[in-house]
Amino acid sequence: MPSCSAVRPSGTRPGAPRADSPAADRPTERDHDVLAAGPGYHPRIVPTPILLDCDPGHDDAVAILLALASQELDLLGITTVGGNAPLERVTDNALRVLALAGRPDVPVAAGAAHPLRGPLRTAPHVHGESGLEGPALPDRIAEPIDEDAIAFLARTIGDAVEPVTVIPTGPLTNIARLLDNHPDLKPRIARFCLMGGAIGEGNITPSAEFNIWVDPEAADIVFRSGVPVTMIGLDVTHRSIVWEEEYRALAAEGGTAARLVAGLLEYFQAFHERIYGWRGTPIHDAVAVAHVAHPGLVTTRPYAVAIELDGALTRGRTVVDVRGVTGLPPNADVGVDIDRDRFVTLLRAAIRTFD
Ligand code: BDR
Ligand code: CA
Repeated sequence: MPSCSAVRPSGTRPGAPRADSPAADRPTERDHDVLAAGPGYHPRIVPTPILLDCDPGHDDAVAILLALASQELDLLGITTVGGNAPLERVTDNALRVLALAGRPDVPVAAGAAHPLRGPLRTAPHVHGESGLEGPALPDRIAEPIDEDAIAFLARTIGDAVEPVTVIPTGPLTNIARLLDNHPDLKPRIARFCLMGGAIGEGNITPSAEFNIWVDPEAADIVFRSGVPVTMIGLDVTHRSIVWEEEYRALAAEGGTAARLVAGLLEYFQAFHERIYGWRGTPIHDAVAVAHVAHPGLVTTRPYAVAIELDGALTRGRTVVDVRGVTGLPPNADVGVDIDRDRFVTLLRAAIRTFD
């Protein structure tokens, strides 16, 4: 039975290879329940409760669709944070994606408009002024809830019957504020499976990845929180490119939703083609969702990760101790490789469910 249970960083030494899959393959409490039920009992997949904290964003938009389409996941709500575009824009974008999906019932709570320190810096050169340029998505058919993101996250996590997996795919401002304001909720968070950072190169500066660079102080709080962290960084997402012919095939085989997604990917490709020469595009944020739905999709290793807060050239860098030279214990499972073909296959299948 596929296990959707949370995976905590192991206590193995830094650098020791570790995929999430072996841990995820170990029997969980749910598996024991199934065994106790006896032969002939065919359980449904028990979905993992998740919260998505995002800044849509082309790849955030696909991440939302993937979360909605995955029977392995139970999306309890979406929170938004200023990042790729200002807060009002990304909140509207999240609601438009839900309209496209026919899921206006999913609660959306708006969160932080600015990082913990300093003004918000957005990414119009990647996502356009609205944060979601390209094909026109339907207008929103629901409004954000009255509660702000921090209150909604706290209430939802506090009320959940089991620990919740939180998937942040934007700057970590909301999450840091949640941890600061509600430290008592930490045991109720199964883990953060976040898109951000890199062992190697940056994308907004030579050193830093965008989500961490926008709010390094928030990232520092998250990585030092003691809550299990899985870091899906550029090392992995840049290995999971969806090629032009693949998203064109998706558009050809699907309907309106598939064509809109292909249009979003075409827009997103322009930045990556300009900078990297790729005739295709990574869908960074969808990888974090896919890895929670399909443990083992990304190979991870336990490393000590620190956030550079001061460097004039390196502020926002995730400093990953791959050789264990600091002697510090691992505080994150860091993605190092991915089964790209499997990722693309499950993504195509997910998008097709909306047509
Ligand atoms: C991250 O930055 C944003 O532009 C994307 O949405 C993604 O979350 C990639 O560096
Ligand atoms: Ca994002």
